Amino acid sequence: MYDEKGRQYLDCINNVAHVGHCHPDIVKAAHEQNQLLNTNSRYLHDNLVDYAERLSKTLPEKLCTFYFLNSGSEANDLALRMARQYTKHKDVIVLDHAYHGHLTSLIDISPYKFRNLEGQKEWVHVAPVPDTYRGIYREDHEDSVTAYANEVRSIIEQAHTRGRKIAAFFAESLPSVGGQIIPPAGYFQKVAEHVHKAGGIFIADEIQVGFGRAGKHFWAFQLQGEDFIPDIVTMGKPIGNGHPIACVAATKEVAEAFAATGVEYFNTFGGNPVSCAVGLAVLDVIEKEHLQAHATEVGNFLMELLNQQKIKHPIIGDVRGIGLFIGVDLIKDQAERTPATAEAEYLITRLKEEYILLSTDGPGRNVLKFKPPMCFSMEDAKFVVDTIDKILTDMEKQCLSQQETSSCFT
Ligand SMILES: Cc1ncc(COP(=O)(O)O)c(C=O)c1O
Repeated sequence: MYDEKGRQYLDCINNVAHVGHCHPDIVKAAHEQNQLLNTNSRYLHDNLVDYAERLSKTLPEKLCTFYFLNSGSEANDLALRMARQYTKHKDVIVLDHAYHGHLTSLIDISPYKFRNLEGQKEWVHVAPVPDTYRGIYREDHEDSVTAYANEVRSIIEQAHTRGRKIAAFFAESLPSVGGQIIPPAGYFQKVAEHVHKAGGIFIADEIQVGFGRAGKHFWAFQLQGEDFIPDIVTMGKPIGNGHPIACVAATKEVAEAFAATGVEYFNTFGGNPVSCAVGLAVLDVIEKEHLQAHATEVGNFLMELLNQQKIKHPIIGDVRGIGLFIGVDLIKDQAERTPATAEAEYLITRLKEEYILLSTDGPGRNVLKFKPPMCFSMEDAKFVVDTIDKILTDMEKQCLSQQETSSCFT
């Protein structure tokens, strides 16, 4: 990125500029379609059908119906509506600290937001994040998958005793706002089993983590195993490389129940020819530039470098990630794993002074969050980690000279 004075920044956080800021192929696709025709979705256009067909090739066959929208929030709101229409139930189970969008309906299912507002609605149920580093069941638990899934089962049972009925389990495939969490494989299958038994459906929010970021798989839910298929997948952010487009992919059963109301789905701008041309170009670039393989290669290298820093700097408690979705959990002490919030804030401020953009997340705002554009290179990885090393070394010296290690940066 370049600022208004032409200074160059290394962007480690923009998962919207997925294939790179101002990628010429994306700019060209939008420009050419804009010159030719842009209409609202009352008018049929091949781009919409072509795009839906291309997207369907990235997904399991079961997810075969597509709805196009303009933002991630719109996609999640539609998913919620569809879940309620299909199940005839109202309640939603979400993971703690989750964020699913800015609409009223989504603030209600976003603990990250509603905890600071009016609080939890009676139809919302919050499950613990399947975080094996600082969650309720950790790496030393004999079966964290079953233990976390059983928490969801208990929530369902408790809801039933109050006469409530579950419409959906709504979760990011890799909880990002929750602190760059990698749910243990098999967790979603077990949760889906409990939720389906209760008559609900599974909605995977891939708005931050989809489109090959996980490297090995195009969709992050696929990390759970081939036997897992959500009932609905929502997409946004990277889908248009910055152009406002979003999508809901649903199974035939869910889509048919939604259509059966007779109330048409209409969205003026959703799926317009320009947006679809952009969406197609993004898929082309991911393929042409082998960005999935690249995410694996660079992501592995970045994890390796960060793990070397973990040995050197005790403030690094955990390095976790997959592909170009990586979190570095900063702690004040090994025993309690107390979030090093002030230190994390100080570190990202110093990085910005070195022209590197990095952010923090997680309930303790102590997790360094790597989710760079997918063209992020080996050199970029080396540069950011070398700079982190330099700053952490400075911080350690500063603390030592102040003789009060734990409160140096508060
Ligand atoms: C996981 C997740 N879901 C949904 C949204 C909402 O997307 P949008 O801001 O495009 O409405 C966001 C945005 O940050 C998000 O991170």
